[in-house]
Amino acid sequence: MKDLQELGTEDLREHVAAELARTRQRSAQLTDAVDDEELVKQHSPLMSPLVWDLAHVGSQEELWLVRDVGGREAVRPDIDDLYDAFQHRRADRPELPLLGPREARDYIATVRDKVFDLLDETPMEGRRLVERAFAFGMIVQHEQQHDETMLATHQLRDGPPALTAEPPPRSSGALPAEVFVPGGPFTMGTSTEAWALDNERPAHEVHVDAFHLDTAPVTNAEFARFIDAGGYHDPRWWSEAGQRYRHKASLEAPRFWFRDGQRWMRRRFGHVEEVPGDEPVMHVSFYEAEAYAAWAGKRLPTESEWEKAARYDPGTGRSRRYPWGDEDPTPEHANLGQQHLQPAPAGAYPLGEAPCGARQLIGDVWEWTSSDFLPYPGFAAFPYREYSEVFFGSDHKVLRGGSFGTDRSACRGTFRNWDFPIRRQIFAGFRCARTPSGDER
Ligand code: AVJ
Ligand code: FE
Repeated sequence: MKDLQELGTEDLREHVAAELARTRQRSAQLTDAVDDEELVKQHSPLMSPLVWDLAHVGSQEELWLVRDVGGREAVRPDIDDLYDAFQHRRADRPELPLLGPREARDYIATVRDKVFDLLDETPMEGRRLVERAFAFGMIVQHEQQHDETMLATHQLRDGPPALTAEPPPRSSGALPAEVFVPGGPFTMGTSTEAWALDNERPAHEVHVDAFHLDTAPVTNAEFARFIDAGGYHDPRWWSEAGQRYRHKASLEAPRFWFRDGQRWMRRRFGHVEEVPGDEPVMHVSFYEAEAYAAWAGKRLPTESEWEKAARYDPGTGRSRRYPWGDEDPTPEHANLGQQHLQPAPAGAYPLGEAPCGARQLIGDVWEWTSSDFLPYPGFAAFPYREYSEVFFGSDHKVLRGGSFGTDRSACRGTFRNWDFPIRRQIFAGFRCARTPSGDER
């Protein structure tokens, strides 16, 4: 996350300790918000019970930090299999002999104590795994990613609200609908970001032709016009696979939307409310995003277009860490970290603007791109194949930018997320791109 290049070992340890503590607070908040019965039950077949995520976070921390980095004795070798995400499908996890809420909390606290203990003795160099505290950063990001997954479970659960947060900032006013990004090469990915994960590496030059990009993500009001125009039922806008899925799942609107007479309503973390027209649309699949873009006479951006818009600085020719520059995100830059329980209206966060003029590339909603999740040239799995490599291929589409539920440690200009194109429970929306016509080039 931070530019950790310049930190000495002691400062690095302090930074790691603060990040671990901050992250655990969030995990506790998400799991203390509901009672034991709700912790162990499955709120949706798409999700694990919350108590599985909680112990899984501890299990990964034990594997990488206690055993591998620390070389310490295993805490609970008997439960490795239960919390191995590749051993049991999410739908099957409630039937496993999982640790109960009390046991899971005790377990993750025991592991964490050992980690704080070994942190002081771990040299932050000499071995790639600990270089600039990489393994600790990986574990912070892993827990934060599961926190976002738990937040999605909260959105799927029935019943009264369990979480609270302040409303997000307002839009700063009317903006041009599109920005223009001139053609040319830029540096994609990174070889220097200390805690960047394997799939973001290495930095490499990519040529991107000129394109137009929506200034902000597509809003609920814009998406409602697509619905009203019969967009869900017009085969002209849908790919073959999209159409098959639309039929099978009887798609009519974004997930969590329902009609009340003429009005669109939604359920959001237990609140029922009118759908706010100016907010980025979310809970749409890749296929719905693709269909909307076709209806609008546009297309989804490729992953490299998205990253060039977010990072390329035409003044210096270099790629920034974030749209606004190289400084870590603050609440003035972007809607991240569950500070708010919804995206901010389109056009918010003027201080987060990219050099091309695009807003809200980081935070608010994950953005579907048209790209499959593939390795960059020179990719090498590190430290384990199961983080990225086993997911490469045409089954998954890349999402960029992070949502209001993504922590700043697990989000940057180079960060790559991926999911199946049918998924709708994640906090994902999109913006459109357009290839310039002849005279615009
Ligand atoms: C990168 C969000 C797709 O949640 O499946 C968590 C992150 N990897 N544990 C996921 C992850 C292992 C991953 N995503
Ligand atoms: Fe995991």
